[in-house]
Amino acid sequence: MSHPTFDQYLMADHRACDEHLGALRRHANAGDWGAAQQAFATLQHDLLAHFAAEEEILFPAFETRTGMRNGPTRVMRMEHEEVRFLLEDLTEALSTQDAEAIRGHGEALLILLQQHNMKEENILYPASRDAVGGDLASLSEQIIQRREAA
Ligand SMILES: [Fe+2]
Ligand SMILES: [Fe+2]
Repeated sequence: MSHPTFDQYLMADHRACDEHLGALRRHANAGDWGAAQQAFATLQHDLLAHFAAEEEILFPAFETRTGMRNGPTRVMRMEHEEVRFLLEDLTEALSTQDAEAIRGHGEALLILLQQHNMKEENILYPASRDAVGGDLASLSEQIIQRREAA
């Protein structure tokens, strides 16, 4: 896909982050701490960049065009905060090589992300596509650029 729309792009990114989380949990269970650390670093970087693209570009575009500032984007921002806390918990669990804590926090993150991503994919992304109308291509380009910025 040379020019994906933002929803296609962000949905593929959800799947990729699921894979990184799966790798983290597998490597931690196996006691392979080097690989677990590497999977976590990728997961953390990609999730935070994904959230930045949503919070800084997509959500404001939705809020401006619909006038809804206390609706779905507010819930999504709160869930992003919960994910950030779980990433901190995982950072700590990795630093002490605490496999049990990684299992618990990893499971919590998996469930939270599944529910969060489903709401975005089924509700917020389609509603945002409707709201932006003819600006879809330029908005998509901005979102992808922000996601891929270092
Ligand atoms: Fe999100
Ligand atoms: Fe997302």
